[in-house]
Amino acid sequence: MENSINIDSILELKDVSVSYTPGKLAVNEVNAYFKPQTITAIMGPSGCGKSTLLRAINRMHELYPDIVTTGEILLKGQNIFKMNPMKVRRLAGMVFQRANPFPTMSIYGNVLAGYKLNNISLSKTEKDEIVEHSLRSVNLWEEVKDSLNKKGTFLSGGQQQRLCIARALALKPELLLMDEPTSALDPISTARIEEMLVELKDQYTIIIVTHNMSQAARISDNSMFMYLGELVEFGTTKQMFTKPKDKRTEDYLTGAFG
Ligand SMILES: Nc1ncnc2c1ncn2[C@@H]1O[C@H](COP(=O)(O)OP(=O)(O)OP(=O)(O)O)[C@@H](O)[C@H]1O
Ligand SMILES: [Mg+2]
Repeated sequence: MENSINIDSILELKDVSVSYTPGKLAVNEVNAYFKPQTITAIMGPSGCGKSTLLRAINRMHELYPDIVTTGEILLKGQNIFKMNPMKVRRLAGMVFQRANPFPTMSIYGNVLAGYKLNNISLSKTEKDEIVEHSLRSVNLWEEVKDSLNKKGTFLSGGQQQRLCIARALALKPELLLMDEPTSALDPISTARIEEMLVELKDQYTIIIVTHNMSQAARISDNSMFMYLGELVEFGTTKQMFTKPKDKRTEDYLTGAFG
């Protein structure tokens, strides 16, 4: 299988299934590929398996022995299950719904937290450089550069979420996995993060779970619609929003259910 790599894609999912309980698939044979420098939105009603799929991509499920993941996940052509899990998590950074800066750490410390957790030592110059670069990438530098030693939790919700994105970017990932990153934020903070994601797309591949259809329409190139664990539809966002192929996608997008 290794030689059937699609070199255009940074991530490929082949028949990926995940179950929490034997015989019950939370994600059911999903096949998809993700091209570099694109934003893909994952949509679908609550419980359809979006978060489960996202967590499979950076091998979070194996921290729980009862969860079974099958199929193949190729990151830059490499089977993630044959890679060092820490390397997978560095290449595929994760951002969650609720901003979760480490409460005991300063803003500066939060940006570098991934290095600390991975026991990677850096010189002071390298640290300063990574902190400034990561905070600039999320448009937070100007707001916090004079208070880098303050606690991350002292920031507003939107700033905390940008800090968490900076923390993921600090590890120089290729892929950003985001699970409803703006659903707890006000419209202005949301708009700032959306603008930032569109800028980040020049350098990263982004997969974002969202319940906000206008957000998907605004920022994503491609969209996936999931229902009951299955990937029902996958295509360009434009096509999905104008001419959905599947009745269930159409019903969801027009608010008929979900
Ligand atoms: N830790 C868990 N243990 C057992 N079942 C789980 C667990 N997490 C999720 N599930 C089940 O797996 C299915 C998919 O859940 P998942 O959280 O992936 O859905 P989702 O699409 O992210 O939903 P939402 O939009 O509400 O976040 C659901 O049936 C859910 O009940
Ligand atoms: Mg979810």
